[in-house]
Amino acid sequence: MFLNLSLNLNLSFLPPMEAPSKPGPMDPDLYFRGYHIAMTLNQSAKEEIKRRADIVELIGQHVQLRKAGRHFVGLCPFHAEKAPSFTVSPEKQMFHCFGCKKGGDIFAFWMEYHSSTFPEALRDLGERYNVEITDRPYSAEEKRRAEGREALFQVNELAAAYFKKALKDPVKGKPGKAYLEARGLSDRAIDEFALGYAPDEWDGLLGFLKGRRIKMEAAASAGLVIPKKSGGYYDRFRGRVIFPIHNLREQVVGFGGRVLGDALPKYLNSPESPVFRKGETLYGLHSSRKAIRTEGRAVVVEGYMDLLALNAHGVEGVVATLGTALTADHIRRLKGYAGEAVVVFDSDEAGKAAVLRSLPLFLNEGMTARAVALPEGQDPDDFVNRHGAEGFLERVRLASPMFDFYLEQKLTFDDADVEGKVRVLKEILPVLGRLTNTAQRSLYVRRLSERLHIGEASIWSELKKSTDRGGEASAPGRIKQRLDVARVEKTFHRELRLLNLIVHYPEALERLAGSNWEIFLSDADVLGIVKAFFRAFPGERPFSPERLMESLDSDSAREKFREALLLPPLDSENTVDLAITELEHKIRQIQLAASIKEAKARGDLEGLNQLLKKKAREINRPSS
Ligand code: CTP
Ligand code: MN
Repeated sequence: MFLNLSLNLNLSFLPPMEAPSKPGPMDPDLYFRGYHIAMTLNQSAKEEIKRRADIVELIGQHVQLRKAGRHFVGLCPFHAEKAPSFTVSPEKQMFHCFGCKKGGDIFAFWMEYHSSTFPEALRDLGERYNVEITDRPYSAEEKRRAEGREALFQVNELAAAYFKKALKDPVKGKPGKAYLEARGLSDRAIDEFALGYAPDEWDGLLGFLKGRRIKMEAAASAGLVIPKKSGGYYDRFRGRVIFPIHNLREQVVGFGGRVLGDALPKYLNSPESPVFRKGETLYGLHSSRKAIRTEGRAVVVEGYMDLLALNAHGVEGVVATLGTALTADHIRRLKGYAGEAVVVFDSDEAGKAAVLRSLPLFLNEGMTARAVALPEGQDPDDFVNRHGAEGFLERVRLASPMFDFYLEQKLTFDDADVEGKVRVLKEILPVLGRLTNTAQRSLYVRRLSERLHIGEASIWSELKKSTDRGGEASAPGRIKQRLDVARVEKTFHRELRLLNLIVHYPEALERLAGSNWEIFLSDADVLGIVKAFFRAFPGERPFSPERLMESLDSDSAREKFREALLLPPLDSENTVDLAITELEHKIRQIQLAASIKEAKARGDLEGLNQLLKKKAREINRPSS
């Protein structure tokens, strides 16, 4: 008696009956639903993009997805996790992370992943899927943010063109060209990475940008020019070779500039801006990600020159941090392309310390990592120039797991005396506690025992102590926690069930419309969802979960609804009738209990008597 629900859902996700490319006669139904014409035009661009795009293909370019039943799953690019809870539904063309609760359609993904605004996402995806974007009335805030970012991209793009041209200039570019040549970079590398040169002038770029009618405020917030105390501006990059930094959308977000001699600072980088966050940006990722994916591993180095030198020798799949420490965000990006990272930092104290600091991050993110120790005092640039690509790749192949590297480093420095051993143990145990792979953990405990000459049993007991301390509540606290969880789960189960029915059997749920179902729910979000459902239904057929989603006004309500959409039905078509009957019964019971309580409070014995009789009848109903 019910429709095939998955089919029903599928259809409802198709856009409303609009003709996006050629506006035809207005559908009367559409008209009565109150669609504004302008809205329809823009809505149609969005819908058309969604119709052409495949969310699995789009997200799959940035996140490694594998098929799991009707969905695809992968490691969430938006929060730390080791087991995939990031879910993409090809059927519903949406994604949702059961861990951090981020989710939505391709637009939501694009905006979150590229930290961009809706207008930018509409334009990017419109270009990508060949859909023309008609003007849409953005909110003032959306417009302001998008324009600010647009101005930064534009001025960076122009500056990149200026630096590039200056490097090619036979007179002005000579010092820069000579420097790059001396460092072994060919014209091919210069072109591939769009390298440039900032001539040693105070107003070179300034004059160029003025000639292009660029607002100097924008150039200043991009960090390309600096305001003078006396008014006016001057160039920030002077007498430096320039490395433009691109985001994954191939836009220039900032620059690194290196002096030609020994002056300080050696490197000067663009400041952070709304389009440039160093902790999220990896130099070279936009061009290396293909190779990283095919090779299944990323090589991570510290410097621009390291990456360029490796590339010049034909070593691909390399990214560089930008003079900042490797962050969790960097790792989250990388693990979308490969399962493993090989960190090759400079073989100096700072480089080694940086590798050691990255171990807990890799463990937290569940990304396999290995570390290469280069000969003392060398960086990847030096090394590959001496030993060539083969020599370098050999080191990569032989790289030890990051944990071993960590142990080796720590032990050579600190294991001299008893205090030293205790210090190492204290530092390593919390890291060890975070390993989810128990076999691996046992292995490391054994290695630690051998290296420190401490019995394995003692290490295990110390390890237990250190993880017990790490956040677990006290015994009474734990019991309370468990009770709370049980209570939450019980009500949660009700709400979950109702949402599940709405999503999978909307027609069946119609039966509840007249009952006092509100009494059944305590969660404000779910209440809002069910209200929205009964408001729209049965007037709307087929029922569109997507439109219901749009009518919700809180993120948390949308989250819950999204989860309901992705979870499989709890009932089959055969049991759904019974499920609704049970719901009706539950609702009556709750209502009765409330009335009984009320009657008792009022001292209404007559009423109480009636209610108790009713309750007895209710309990004996055959359906429960
Ligand atoms: N860096 C920086 N500011 C500095 C020094 C370094 O931002 N004053 C960043 C740059 O991104 C640089 C990276 O840290 O690429 C690595 O620094 P370093 O090892 O000093 O640079 P190299 O790449 O070895 O530079 P070079 O070979 O040109 O001397
Ligand atoms: Mn170097």
